[in-house]
Amino acid sequence: MAKLAAGEQIHLSESVRVRKDGTPFLAAVTVWPVRDENGAVVAAAATERDVTEENTARERSARADRMESLGQLAGGVAHDFNNLLAIIMNYADFLTEEVTGDAADDLARIRNAADRAKSLTSQLLLFAKREPTQVEVIDLNQAVIEADELLGRTIGENIRLVSRPAREPLPVRANRGRLDQILLNLVINARDAMPDGGVVSVETDLVELDEGPSATLPPGSYARLTVCDNGCGMTAEVRDRLFEPFFTTKPADRGTGLGLATVYGIVGDAGGAIGVESAPGDGTTFRILLPSAATAAHAKTGPAPDEIGHGDGRLIMVVEDDDFVSDLVVRVLQNNGYRATTLGEHSLADVDIHGISLLLADVVLRGRSGPVLAARLRARRPDLPVLFMSGYSDVEVRREHGIDAATPILQKPFTAVELLAGVDAALSSVAVVQHAKGV
Ligand SMILES: Nc1ncnc2c1ncn2[C@@H]1O[C@H](COP(=O)(O)OP(=O)(O)OP(=O)(O)O)[C@@H](O)[C@H]1O
Ligand SMILES: [Mg+2]
Repeated sequence: MAKLAAGEQIHLSESVRVRKDGTPFLAAVTVWPVRDENGAVVAAAATERDVTEENTARERSARADRMESLGQLAGGVAHDFNNLLAIIMNYADFLTEEVTGDAADDLARIRNAADRAKSLTSQLLLFAKREPTQVEVIDLNQAVIEADELLGRTIGENIRLVSRPAREPLPVRANRGRLDQILLNLVINARDAMPDGGVVSVETDLVELDEGPSATLPPGSYARLTVCDNGCGMTAEVRDRLFEPFFTTKPADRGTGLGLATVYGIVGDAGGAIGVESAPGDGTTFRILLPSAATAAHAKTGPAPDEIGHGDGRLIMVVEDDDFVSDLVVRVLQNNGYRATTLGEHSLADVDIHGISLLLADVVLRGRSGPVLAARLRARRPDLPVLFMSGYSDVEVRREHGIDAATPILQKPFTAVELLAGVDAALSSVAVVQHAKGV
């Protein structure tokens, strides 16, 4: 009041008010001093502004910021774990070839846990949006039909999966792996909500959205995916926090709370929206809308998997700061008929550039950069085959380090088989390029 008397205006904190028709809205109230002809403050007037939409927009942007910083954190952690996992998985593999009996069982458990950890880090990378994705036009219907078997196997026997695909194809612009991830997360959540069994239905159809004041999506055609269960449902508190990363009501060994955060991210990236309807004891329905893609789906056929060749004594230069990873890579290469050397104490100038068949280098090195190193060596020998390794995602690493699409990057953590396949492909793709040039 003192402020008013002094002639200043006051902004009251936002509060929920009710419109004449009974609907609630968020109001920002400003109070103004009213002066008489002599300029003295004699009364106060208030204006009320509906800030519901501003507020929603603000909340949405704050949520996006939170997701972004959590994503960066998660991406960094996943990267470090990937290095450690590469070591654990590969040394376990080495030992597996040597031991038998109980020790072999124990090793299998270690290997299994490492595999689970690997899929967790790839979840984290996906959530952090650092996982490379290729978007193409795919039929949501077909994806649901094809996922049916996998989902059926995942949910167990006391739960019935009912799939109701639409009659017509539903082309959407998406990444197949990510679509599967959406289905899997939703169906597994449904399973967890029905410990005593039940029914989960997966349905697709085409919907037309009109323009509307509360519409969050532009008008147009959308493919709709509906996943519905008759499980335990959830309280309003849970429903409000559902999409938050790391929000879970499950015991630590059952849930990470990343499932729906990931789904939310994928759907948002695809220009879609997700909604949920649920009440305790009433089951849960998730609805996802994805913008319909006009053109017909194209099936993408990749190259047939290469056979892994043998080293034939070819020399590979390995540049990797983590000694454990470096030792491990050298060992895998040597076990498979390659010779390996590390940069070690040598200076770049000493490298016998024509003696090596491939440079295998980590992208981010302590105080150095793999791509810069490769460029220096290629200055002396332009056709030197190069294969990079990285625990960061393909897309991000290429962008930040200017690595062209022609130079392959091996994602960490890799198994021995993946490493050998990567080396083989890097060596043979160069052979193809050289051959093509020679024609
Ligand atoms: N179909 C459902 N029925 C009831 N509750 C659900 C359902 N789906 C999600 N929830 C609730 O939302 C929470 C968050 O789900 P989310 O998938 O993000 O994580 P999570 O399943 O707990 O762990 P994660 O998916 O990472 O293994 C769950 O812990 C659960 O409480
Ligand atoms: Mg989940």
